[in-house]
Amino acid sequence: MSILIRGGRLVTASDDFVADVLVEGGRVALVGADLDVAADRTIDAAGKYVLPGCIDPHTHLDMPFGGTVTIDDFESGHGSAACGGTTCHVDFCIQGQGQTFAEALEGWHAKANGKALIDYGFHIAVTDLRDAERLEELASLPEQGITSYKLFMAYKNVLQVDDETLFRAMEVAAGSGALVMVHAENGDAIDVLVRQALERGDTEPINHALTRPPELEGEATNRAIQLSRIAGSPLYVVHVTCREAVDPIRRAREQGWAVWGESCTQYFFRSIDDLAQPDFEGAKYVYSPPARDASNHDVLWDAVRTDALSAISTDHCSFLWDGQKTLGKDDFTKIPNGGPGLEDRLKMIHHFGVRGGRISLNRMVDLLATQPAKLFGLYPRKGTIAVGGDADLVVFDPERRETISASTHHSKCDYNMYEGTEVVGVPEHVVVRGSVVVEDGELVGSPGSGRFVQRAKFGEQLAIEPIAAR
Ligand code: URP
Ligand code: ZN
Ligand code: ZN
Repeated sequence: MSILIRGGRLVTASDDFVADVLVEGGRVALVGADLDVAADRTIDAAGKYVLPGCIDPHTHLDMPFGGTVTIDDFESGHGSAACGGTTCHVDFCIQGQGQTFAEALEGWHAKANGKALIDYGFHIAVTDLRDAERLEELASLPEQGITSYKLFMAYKNVLQVDDETLFRAMEVAAGSGALVMVHAENGDAIDVLVRQALERGDTEPINHALTRPPELEGEATNRAIQLSRIAGSPLYVVHVTCREAVDPIRRAREQGWAVWGESCTQYFFRSIDDLAQPDFEGAKYVYSPPARDASNHDVLWDAVRTDALSAISTDHCSFLWDGQKTLGKDDFTKIPNGGPGLEDRLKMIHHFGVRGGRISLNRMVDLLATQPAKLFGLYPRKGTIAVGGDADLVVFDPERRETISASTHHSKCDYNMYEGTEVVGVPEHVVVRGSVVVEDGELVGSPGSGRFVQRAKFGEQLAIEPIAAR
């Protein structure tokens, strides 16, 4: 089926012009003014933006964590993503203790099979390198399109690795073509602070934030940067929240080091005050690192505007408030860490970032689509609008109003972190490899049509095959 998207304002990370886009065979076949071509279907995009499908490089679907499993699986997670203008994501496949990476990946492929609606890739989350064979296996993963390794420097006795494991993984990545990702918080110091809080009888959700101070994020960020320098691996720091972590990343980038960082939507809008909400409402905002003092909001906007931080993800890791978050009703350490947000990223960043005058429209596309595609081996097939590239497109109505709410979102989560927020600008139609999955804001795609993407090695491009050969 071919689609002609007529007269929209095409916005990529670098361009902004009015044109038609012809989609054929799941790919962008032509871009030009007033195309004189026939198509099976025409979408009138006059007055709308035509954006590359957004890419979320940080999600946790169907993930066992905190004594339970995230409530959104690949079906509800993908429905939610698509309605928010996200056409591809990279999820974390977690290696269980003693597990081979092949076993872990088999499990994650099974979670997505038959349910996927958008395209997806996997990062491997390394938790156990004690068996020497694991290092060899880790080195072989980029050949299978798994081109990023994630290591947790926090969550002691759960996902946390020691510095030896982190450094060994970095050394492997330096030779295998993988990008190392870190959750940068000092888990050992946090563990001490947590035990002291519990001994004092401090059990409310706010203690989650009080026991994970920003200095411990800054320390771990700097440690990871210095270790990656010695190992010679590229480094990507996930979910950066505060000045203490932005500063070392900015300094590293000013030196031209191979260091990048992302923040997530929630850190621009939520603050430590949200965790202090009464009646256990604060548990809705328990994620790690925690929401910080609101003075960090401007630090983060400045960082994404000036390229100290290169991407905005969601870290979508949704748990029901009623039944999952409440596991920690009497003890904040038992509240599963994570929050929902896959559907809200584009709307929130467009409304408060672009309309709010903090970043340009081009930079928004860069942060939400192009940089994630480049860093995670999806570019230029995805992350931009290129002839021959995948027809992953969003027709975005910049004037349509919406009030964000859990009563209308597509996640299974029973709350929304931006409940009641009115935004101007919403995805109207969303196309994944040439199939319309969202039509006039309604989810119409069917599960099973999304595909696993074998990503290119770090620094390499995902080839666009010649049109005739595909
Ligand atoms: O609290 C969070 N962020 N949960 C998901 C796991 C992680 O740390 O990314
Ligand atoms: Zn994390
Ligand atoms: Zn995460």
